[in-house]
Amino acid sequence: MKLYNNPASPFARKVIVALMELNASDQVEIINVAGTPVNSGTIPVSENPLGKLPTLAGTLHGSLYDSRVISKFVNSHFKGNLYPAANYWQVLKMEALADGIMDASVLSTYEKRVRSKEKQSEEWVAGQWNKITRSLDALEESGEEFLGLPLNMAQIALGCALGYLDFRHSDRPWRTEHPKVEYWNQEFSQRASMRATRPE
Ligand code: BEZ
Repeated sequence: MKLYNNPASPFARKVIVALMELNASDQVEIINVAGTPVNSGTIPVSENPLGKLPTLAGTLHGSLYDSRVISKFVNSHFKGNLYPAANYWQVLKMEALADGIMDASVLSTYEKRVRSKEKQSEEWVAGQWNKITRSLDALEESGEEFLGLPLNMAQIALGCALGYLDFRHSDRPWRTEHPKVEYWNQEFSQRASMRATRPE
């Protein structure tokens, strides 16, 4: 199997961290590619017509996308327990929340990088940051139980979302207002899988 990746993508990082946690990284070849919403670049659109990352090619089911589908597939294929039955819906919901933080922060990156200055909308970017802030507020207020669960896919997604905020949006500090999330992240970001995949 081949995983199409970009080292800056928090969505692709999620899958690589999951593979490492499942001791399965040697079963998947990682191929780095690059593209944007306006130019698919080297992303293989023959494997994923959406021209998005990550894409996992060569499975028994053909090419798989997006990161949530691939994460479920690798967990099942490599017999992991990243979606434990006892917390199944909570983990799915929290993974969706973390993916939403990634979506909003990646869209904010692209707004500044891909659109010309005169077309950029401050209001639209502010809307994306409201989504991120509300999601972190929700985790801070009532996420303690979830953060304390054994390793699961939603925690991996959250670690990657926070890592992306630090990587591309360090001018928007999230730690001060979210000390419980930060306390959790301090430890989580020290996992070997997270250290090995930190974007630079
Ligand atoms: C980035 O450079 O921020 C990026 C690259 C690929 C996917 C998402 C984000």
